[in-house]
Amino acid sequence: MSTKKNIEVKTIFNKISYKYDFLNNLLSFGLHKLWKKKLVNLLEPKAGEDWADLCCGTGDIAFQIYKRIGRNGSIIGIDSASEIINIAKEKSDLFNNKIIEWETKDIMDINVCSQKFDGICMSYGLRNLENVNEGIEKVFNLLKEKGRAGFLDFNNSKKNSIPNIFQRIYLRKVVVPISKIFDFSKEYKYIEKSIKSFPSGNELAKIAKEVGFKNIKYRTIFFGQMGILIVNK
Ligand SMILES: C[S@@+](CC[C@H](N)C(=O)[O-])C[C@H]1O[C@@H](n2cnc3c(N)ncnc32)[C@H](O)[C@@H]1O
Repeated sequence: MSTKKNIEVKTIFNKISYKYDFLNNLLSFGLHKLWKKKLVNLLEPKAGEDWADLCCGTGDIAFQIYKRIGRNGSIIGIDSASEIINIAKEKSDLFNNKIIEWETKDIMDINVCSQKFDGICMSYGLRNLENVNEGIEKVFNLLKEKGRAGFLDFNNSKKNSIPNIFQRIYLRKVVVPISKIFDFSKEYKYIEKSIKSFPSGNELAKIAKEVGFKNIKYRTIFFGQMGILIVNK
């Protein structure tokens, strides 16, 4: 897929790729690792299962899932930005990990007939897709029967609620100024814009239901700043 948004998103992540992990750690005070761990814990990957980390970036989630599924399972990390996938591969080589596969691909182009998973994770990816509904539907179609999926992202809270005001101040007064030091202010300004057009938790749950998911649970974490959607096929 090469729509205007896809090209814009790919350009952003290729450009910031070499500082992505560093800035994630700095801007979240390292907390993003805990939020990702929470997502993986809620999904409980089991030894021998087949998993996918979609919009994997530098692969944080894939590495955490690998620890759970072991050598008899499979895990693939897929991302459309080649530069960021290269960093995931470098990290894999560093740990001599031969189990995790990495693929540069738009997740909307994955063939749902040839690949099926017990579980799928997407952290901070859904908000960046051209179409959130189609993204959730894609995940549904990529899951085996009774498969499960989890999505972690910024929580789009009610306008002018305390979490919403805090989020706006944090993004404008902390994230953008710090990213400016690295000449990425335009790229990080994109976060606020993308949250505004991202569905709220209730809306995400509604979309998941329409797509066919069951046992849908949306919870907010870190004082309403982030949200985790857990669904079952
Ligand atoms: C904010 S990063 C998140 C990376 C990682 N999952 C994490 O939590 O750190 C979003 C990632 O989604 C990828 N992405 C956006 N749209 C995509 C698409 N249509 N197909 C595959 N990857 C996509 C971007 O290239 C980027 O690496």
